[in-house]
Amino acid sequence: MDASNQKPIGVFDSGIGGLTVVRALLERLPNENIVYFGDTARVPYGSKSEQVVREYTLDDTDFLLSKDVKMIVVACNTVSAVALDVVQKRANLPVTGVIIPGAEAAVKASKSNRIGVIGTVGTINSNAYKNELLHLNVQAHVASKACPLLVPLVEEGWMDHKSTETIAQVYLFPLLTEKIDTLILGCTHYPLLKNTISKVTKGAVTLIDSGEATAATVESMLDQFHLRNTSQQKPNVQFFVSDAPEKFTAVGEIFLGQKLGVVRRVVIGK
Ligand code: DGL
Repeated sequence: MDASNQKPIGVFDSGIGGLTVVRALLERLPNENIVYFGDTARVPYGSKSEQVVREYTLDDTDFLLSKDVKMIVVACNTVSAVALDVVQKRANLPVTGVIIPGAEAAVKASKSNRIGVIGTVGTINSNAYKNELLHLNVQAHVASKACPLLVPLVEEGWMDHKSTETIAQVYLFPLLTEKIDTLILGCTHYPLLKNTISKVTKGAVTLIDSGEATAATVESMLDQFHLRNTSQQKPNVQFFVSDAPEKFTAVGEIFLGQKLGVVRRVVIGK
């Protein structure tokens, strides 16, 4: 192992949601150092134009590059859908988003080839998941639905609230009518709604957590590029945000499933 293996994996998201991806990474790759950046000053990305998301993505990438990361994981579904190429062009490093891993996991899981996708307006309008699913399986029947109200409900901590279940029911109704057997949770926040969504789907639909699928992809990329950290030292996980580190620390615990430690504010895009 050379010194570059000990460099951190860089992960970024529009805000706090990407911590669900960090959680999956920590579970699968407990030896790895991680630098996380959440663009909390400019969240949400999911309702913004493609052009603006691409501009923000460049700043997010440059911040991670300034931390000398060994690879970049785009945790944000919206960025993965509309701006992955921006990261790939800027960083001369291995890069993965969440769309391809999520689509691959869904195609593997589905028996009927009838797959649902939910995400932000930006993700759904881009058709990124749909195109990837059809690329992987031309027989796939894909039903997509943007669910913009779910992100604020999760950020309010209303994961198991009756109102959230009612709203999820309205969003998922057209997908269930299409008789999907698999549903891609195509947004960083949705893994926290697994219980509520399972209730709505009556447990009859396999839920695909793109974050978990991405952690598996990261593991194989580290092996492919000989970048695994095999050092016995306790790994270092650092968190940076562009606004309100206190709020990020408090709410972040729910997303990460453990305490965060120090969260620092940084100014980017200048
Ligand atoms: N992180 C975003 C995503 O996964 C959700 C929040 C936002 O709209 O920025 O698409």
